[in-house]
Amino acid sequence: KKMIKKGIILSGGMGTRVGPSTKAISKQLIPIADKPIIFYSLSILMLLDIKNILIIVKADDISSYKKLLGNGKSFGIKISYIIQKSPKGLPDAFLLGKKFIDKKPVALILGDNFFHGQSLVELLKGVSKNFKSGANIFTYNVHNPQDYGVVESSKNSIQIVEKPKKTSSKKAITGLYFFDHNVSKLSKKLKRSKRNELEIVDLLKIYLVLKKLNITELGRGSAWLDTGTSRDIFRASNYVDIIQERQNQKVGCLEEIAFKKKWINKNLLRSRIKFYGKNEYSEYLIKILNEKI
Ligand code: G1P
Repeated sequence: KKMIKKGIILSGGMGTRVGPSTKAISKQLIPIADKPIIFYSLSILMLLDIKNILIIVKADDISSYKKLLGNGKSFGIKISYIIQKSPKGLPDAFLLGKKFIDKKPVALILGDNFFHGQSLVELLKGVSKNFKSGANIFTYNVHNPQDYGVVESSKNSIQIVEKPKKTSSKKAITGLYFFDHNVSKLSKKLKRSKRNELEIVDLLKIYLVLKKLNITELGRGSAWLDTGTSRDIFRASNYVDIIQERQNQKVGCLEEIAFKKKWINKNLLRSRIKFYGKNEYSEYLIKILNEKI
């Protein structure tokens, strides 16, 4: 069975709530623990065997992203970039990325979303394998659903609401979405919301009406963490640091993933170590390089 082969990382936004750092740097380049936030979302796409990736960034940031990730060759993948002039909402990714999508199914992940968990990748891979048409979203139970898009379900109907002031549901819609080839066409129909953005929930509602929206719940054994504020990032850093230190294994290490999947050889890994210079991340890569598989 064919899996979804294309992925978009939306990595724009002003990141105001993480200021003052975000006045000078893209939020998704600020670290969680020992690596930039975007490494974690990019690692999820790579773990799903998605090797053709479009990153959408602000004009100011494109050179920083290119310096860090390049054209993806260092990870055995293909990365291209598109500039988003102003934040116009999530579905803008499908308008900007229309040519990239080229009428194929696509995964969208928000560059600031953090996912982790033992069977998470298996779960996502299963959905990707069986994905034929429509849209697939992933929900996660949280204590603050009012901060997210939410799935509300009653007896025989489902509703999707963006940041409801009051809701009986705990199911937040996470920043990972699978869409079929219709997504660019349908995104074109959307109108700006009160916050003057195209809303992903409006797009999801179209799929819902067409009975083409599939909802997958991420269980309590997985983690979906917020990176909305500096404190959120600090907490996520603690989470990653504790796991990494305990196991002596890294979360979201792009070169490790690429190397273990045999997408890059030892020489590419060596040049990446050189590129990073002397630090703990590089030392980890040296360990990977010398491991007998
Ligand atoms: C966006 C979406 C929301 C979703 C969230 C996930 O929120 O609009 O539906 O739950 O991403 O991170 P925003 O970042 O625009 O507040």
